[in-house]
This record gives sequence, structure tokens and C-alpha cells, in this order.
Amino acid sequence: MILIVENKINMKSVFFVIVGSLLALAAADYETPTCNVNPVKIHDKWVTMRDTCKTAMRSQIQMEVDASLRYLAMGAHFSRDVINRPGFAKLFFEAAGEEREHAMKLIEYLLMRGELTSDVSGLITFTPHQLSKVSVDVPRNGTDALERALQMEHDVTSSIRRVIIACEDGSKDDQDPRKFNDYHLVDYLTGEFLEEQYKGQRDLAGKASTLKKMMEIHGRPLAEFIFDKKLLGMDI
Ligand SMILES: *[C@@H]1O[C@H](CO)[C@@H](O)[C@H](O)[C@H]1NC(C)=O
Ligand SMILES: [Fe+2]
Repeated sequence: MILIVENKINMKSVFFVIVGSLLALAAADYETPTCNVNPVKIHDKWVTMRDTCKTAMRSQIQMEVDASLRYLAMGAHFSRDVINRPGFAKLFFEAAGEEREHAMKLIEYLLMRGELTSDVSGLITFTPHQLSKVSVDVPRNGTDALERALQMEHDVTSSIRRVIIACEDGSKDDQDPRKFNDYHLVDYLTGEFLEEQYKGQRDLAGKASTLKKMMEIHGRPLAEFIFDKKLLGMDI
């Protein structure tokens, strides 16, 4: 009983506090809230990535984004009602997601090293040329798609190797502390990215080989149909 009375008193006081605050707000001139935390100054000696390595990393990010778009277009193509190959569509939509993830991992790496902190406006660009190329490059059939994907992965692998060369190069070492062998990044690119590239290429090559063998025996329509079901994970 006592508790209930206390609750009532509390509710009343809460009510008055709210009304009071509203009146005070109405009386005061409304001001746009401003952030009063000034950026602090921290010395940037710990930011040690070389310019050539940074540039190579940035173009690699663009390449991963482009690869993601191409896979997206291929997934959409195989999803069309008149094509209707859900297994191929699944394979390429998943690949599009993986490429986007690669771009994010590289961005996260640069951020960890103190890069990209002030301006990211030129990081990812879309030119009409790139977009039209993506939409024009429609695969003609299943093997064509797998072989295009293999070629694309091969190009990405070559590009990662170029980033590694740019980042491991310590030949211009001098008093500038920003010029040094970036073995940490090279290790990351070799151990994580190249590992995935080589496995992915082998996987695509194996798939293209299996489909071609099936086509030799069964012809393209049946072979592609069965192979598509296999890509969906169905027992055949
Ligand atoms: C698949 O498409 C490619 C590229 O258009 C073409 O060269 C090849 O002959 C096609 N294969 C079959 C079996 O239709
Ligand atoms: Fe990738």
C-alpha cells in the first residue's frame, strides 16, 4: 500500500519534470546541435605504407569490385526465365558476394594501417565503360561461363602478384621511413588471397573439365542440365 502511494508521487513528479522541460525547450531558441569534440592531433609516424604499395592496393580494391559486378551480371544471366540454370546462378551470385568481401577485407587492411582516414572519394569508381562491359560480356553457355570465370580469376591472381611485388620492394630504401618492405601485407596477400585464388582456379578448372566431359557423351543440353543440378547440390 505504501509502495503504491510512493509510486503515485513519483509519477506526479515525473510528469512535472517532463512538462517543465518541454516549457523550457519551447522558450529556448532552437540551435542546430554541433559537435564540440575537436579532432585531436596524433603524430603519423606509425603510418608506414609506401605510396607505390598503397596505389597498387587501391587498384586491387577496384578490381575486386569489378569482379563482383561481373559475377553479379553472370548470376543474373543464368537466372533469366529463358536460360533458367539455378545452379550456375547460385555459383556466380555467391562468387559476387566473395569478391565484394575481398574488396572489404582490403579496405579494412588499409584502415588498420592508418590509411583512408581522410578521403575515400576516389577509392571506388564506376565508369560507363566498365558498366557496359559488364552487361555486354554475357556468357553464351555453361562452359563459356566457367572458362570466363577462370580467366577472370587468373587476371585477379596476376594483379595480386603485382601488388605483392609493389609492396615487398625495399630497393628504394633511404632515410624515408615510409620506404620499406611491407612484409606484413605481403604475407597477408600471399597466405590469404593467393591461397583462395589458387583453390578457386583449381575448382573452376575442375568444373569446366567435368562439364566438357559430360557434354562429349551426352551433348550440351542434357550435360548442362545435369551439371546445373549438381551445382545446386542435388544428388544425380
Ligand atoms: C559456348 O560458347 C562459346 C562462346 O560463345 C562458343 O565458342 C562455344 O562453341 C559454345 N559451346 C557450345 C557447345 O555451344
Ligand atoms: Fe577476389
